[in-house]
Amino acid sequence: GRARMTWIGTSWKMNKTLAEARAFVDGLVAARSALDGVRAFVIPAHTAIAAVRERLPADVPVLIGAQNAHWEPAGAYTGEVSMGMIADVGATLVEIGHSERRQHFGETDETVALKVAAAVAAGLTPLLCVGEPAGVRAAGGETDWVAGQVSRGLSRLATPDLHKVVVAYEPVWAIGDLGREAQPYEIAPVMEMLSARFRPAAVLYGGSVNRRNAAALLGVPGTDGLFVGRAAWDVAEFIELVRIAA
Ligand code: G3P
Repeated sequence: GRARMTWIGTSWKMNKTLAEARAFVDGLVAARSALDGVRAFVIPAHTAIAAVRERLPADVPVLIGAQNAHWEPAGAYTGEVSMGMIADVGATLVEIGHSERRQHFGETDETVALKVAAAVAAGLTPLLCVGEPAGVRAAGGETDWVAGQVSRGLSRLATPDLHKVVVAYEPVWAIGDLGREAQPYEIAPVMEMLSARFRPAAVLYGGSVNRRNAAALLGVPGTDGLFVGRAAWDVAEFIELVRIAA
């Protein structure tokens, strides 16, 4: 078997009402026994974090995350929420630097570094998302590109804190319904580099993961788990992925 428990999680991105979020949690509870063998996590929109925390019984082993938070601890930052605020409502993980935030919301390596450090200071586990665009992949530069992104993202952390970070490798060209599925051989050099060079708590793969390709992607050396979008928004599908990861 695998040396460490496999991580398997989903971000709901900008989806799910409170009723839909609660129904997903009820599906997790109904499949409770499947969850013991994995490190499962769910990342709702900010609006549903508290409801998910309240609905999820304490003995059902599913971590809750947030999709983003600001680096400042408090203050006049209209529209933002702090690391402490998401921790207060039940998050223990926080996604930082997802490619959609880098692309649409001005996230840079510098804001990512500030957020990674703020997350650790708040006692949260940063889920640092990195990945190259299609052009970099076409030129064969993905391993160096991703190493640079991670180095810069971790640049404000003290060395002993590096092992508190989870890194998610999500090639931009493989994310979302315009993406194409990555093949295991295409991600292996990057996954192995991330695991060997940075020694984070875990290295996850994300981008068009589904029940057909999950087992092969989990078999890539250096891979500690999967980070799933669309294919896990239905709780029955999420549980199917949990069973594959267990
Ligand atoms: O955060 C996971 C995500 O970016 C992958 O999305 O829909 O391609 O699985 P998807």
